[in-house]
Amino acid sequence: MSADAIIGLQWGDEGKGKIVDLLAREADYVVRYHGGNNAGHTVVLGKKKYFFRLIPSGVFHKNTHVIIGGGVVLDPEVLISEMDILESEGINLKKKLIISPRAHLILPYHKELDIAYEKARGKKKLGTTKRGIGPAYSDKVSYNGIRVYDLSDWKSFEQKFKFQAGVKNKILNAFGVKPININKSLNSLKKQRTRILPFIKDSFEILNDALAKRKKILFEGAHGIMLDLDWSPYPFATASNTVVGGLNTGAGLPPKSLNNVIGVLKAFTSRVGEGPLPTEIYGRLANAIRERGTEYGTTTGRPRRIGWLDLEAVRFSCAINNVNEIVITKLDILSGLIEIKICTGYRLNGKKVRYSECGYKELEKVKPVYKSFPGWIEDISAVRKFSNLPPECKNYLKFIKKFLGVKIKFVSVGAERNANIKIS
Ligand code: IMP
Repeated sequence: MSADAIIGLQWGDEGKGKIVDLLAREADYVVRYHGGNNAGHTVVLGKKKYFFRLIPSGVFHKNTHVIIGGGVVLDPEVLISEMDILESEGINLKKKLIISPRAHLILPYHKELDIAYEKARGKKKLGTTKRGIGPAYSDKVSYNGIRVYDLSDWKSFEQKFKFQAGVKNKILNAFGVKPININKSLNSLKKQRTRILPFIKDSFEILNDALAKRKKILFEGAHGIMLDLDWSPYPFATASNTVVGGLNTGAGLPPKSLNNVIGVLKAFTSRVGEGPLPTEIYGRLANAIRERGTEYGTTTGRPRRIGWLDLEAVRFSCAINNVNEIVITKLDILSGLIEIKICTGYRLNGKKVRYSECGYKELEKVKPVYKSFPGWIEDISAVRKFSNLPPECKNYLKFIKKFLGVKIKFVSVGAERNANIKIS
């Protein structure tokens, strides 16, 4: 039996897409279990670059099936645009894609509400992706959600949609925002429904059967652990559980069936949106790292904030998820820096404090304790063996491994599938 999870150990954008795509080569199933099209994954195949927000990254592999699990919030418009791209590349999705009827739909009013709330927050905005994620999940927990399941019965879907859209339009009106056009939305949804219906199938029995047959299943985490709804410095979170606990609720995996938890760790830190980032750096250094690493949001295009690697936060991520292997990404971006820092702990008012003990106000004030490392000047993007790395680079990796007490599976030094250094 092999059910592995791949999760981002920081604030998202760790480069999970490439890693899932790589490890999915041997997978029978790749499963998304939470979040929506606020996530963005880039896969580079030869000269072509693909961006996916919903469809799991392993979709290009011949024998891999991809599942959108019940914990996901699904925007039908975005899903169909991704299906179009894949089908134009000759991929037969009918044989590959399964969508859980339990997934909740992101509907036009969710997107408008997300925008309206952010605008109303003014300077206190959260910096959401404005994709309707929070409003869709809040409808789910207040029993006002409409699920993929509801698409199967158009009459009842129409009734539910009209009721919900009517209520939401009153809220939009209170915000001074133009209400959504209910009939126009219904016309689009009717067309989208026909496209989606053939892919709807509950995934529980499929995965349960796959586990019994010892098939390989890969769970693709979205975002990062520091954005978990319950374990982040709320409200600077995303609306789903990014911790591996989300696998049980979002995909029906019995917890003891999980073998490996592979954490993806970028060699430095980035964050999009508002909220505390204890190791944030500014100015020329941050700009240089941002440009070299193309640190701009895949979903929104926003420039990402940049910081030194924060091992105090990552130590928490490894512990709460029982991470047993890590993949380090974008190490090549750090080439050419004279000094590189790693945060090994926080101090608040002169006292040691842990990441998990801090709310957002404390995290804004903590002073990172840094360990400084000499940098390396060599371009390492063509290196494929650990022994060929500059000694300063090896030291950086050895320190991370020792500090976290976790094996490094491999290090990624470029966007291409083969730009990796195996560490054994
Ligand atoms: P939402 O998920 O759109 O509601 O946004 C809430 C917060 O999570 C914002 O700070 C977003 O920038 C952040 N966020 C959501 N998804 C991702 C992701 O995949 N990568 C990085 N940040 C994300």
